[in-house]
Amino acid sequence: MTAPTDRIRALLTVPVRDDSAGYLDVLDPPEAADSLSLRVMQNPLFAEVYERAWRPVFTRLFSLGGASTAVQDRTLTAHLSRSGDRKVLDVACGPGNYTRRFAAGLTGDGLSVGVDFSAPMLSRAVRDNSGARTGYVRGDAHALPFADNTFDTVACLAALYLITDPFAVVDELARVVAPGGEVAVFTTVRTRITAVPGLGVLNKVSGFRIFGRHEITDRLAAAGLVDIEQTITGQGQFVTARKSPQTTSR
Ligand SMILES: C[S@@+](CC[C@H](N)C(=O)[O-])C[C@H]1O[C@@H](n2cnc3c(N)ncnc32)[C@H](O)[C@@H]1O
Repeated sequence: MTAPTDRIRALLTVPVRDDSAGYLDVLDPPEAADSLSLRVMQNPLFAEVYERAWRPVFTRLFSLGGASTAVQDRTLTAHLSRSGDRKVLDVACGPGNYTRRFAAGLTGDGLSVGVDFSAPMLSRAVRDNSGARTGYVRGDAHALPFADNTFDTVACLAALYLITDPFAVVDELARVVAPGGEVAVFTTVRTRITAVPGLGVLNKVSGFRIFGRHEITDRLAAAGLVDIEQTITGQGQFVTARKSPQTTSR
């Protein structure tokens, strides 16, 4: 089978600047990040502890001590990891913890591609979560380096709340998903707990955003997606949506 990076290269709409670290880098060298949260994501030490120490704790924090968010997370990722000849895109993939899982059941020309703009996260992804159908791109979620209608499944998990312009990213998820394909998002949502006074200031300082209940679903609908389903568990929301099979181009 052709190496995943060669197959991903063929999907890119922009030139690769560097591939020496095992991922395809289409960006200029990293600049200072916009917010505290994004600076943390660019930190090599954080990339080291992310998958084992940070992600599981954070997922549980979303359900504030309960297990519902973790259960929903497992259900969604099991669905996204189902078998088939599909192209999957994991936007803001971090250390590739989901990217590789999404590749587990792929068959035929199936391919799972992780995109992130943090070089330390991607180094970790290449080291720990590579595979025959898994590969990585250093790119910006605001301008995904792929043509319209490319992927059967597009996921963006636990990242939109950190991203500088999350609604532009939602539009990008909708743009690159193929007709008949699905988009899946896991992110924050405003609840009685996350609406407490004072949290807004903390969010501003950290760059961590809490979305209004309909902000993500409305934007997916405005981008032309259908069959939008939202599940709120604890302080998190899981949203899935589909691009109509009749969609020709956007
Ligand atoms: C909390 S991690 C989530 C990783 C993984 N999706 C997960 O669910 O465990 C958020 C990731 O978003 C990435 N990120 C933030 N803004 C980005 C952008 N504009 N383009 C690409 N990646 C971005 C960060 O570098 C970080 O790796």
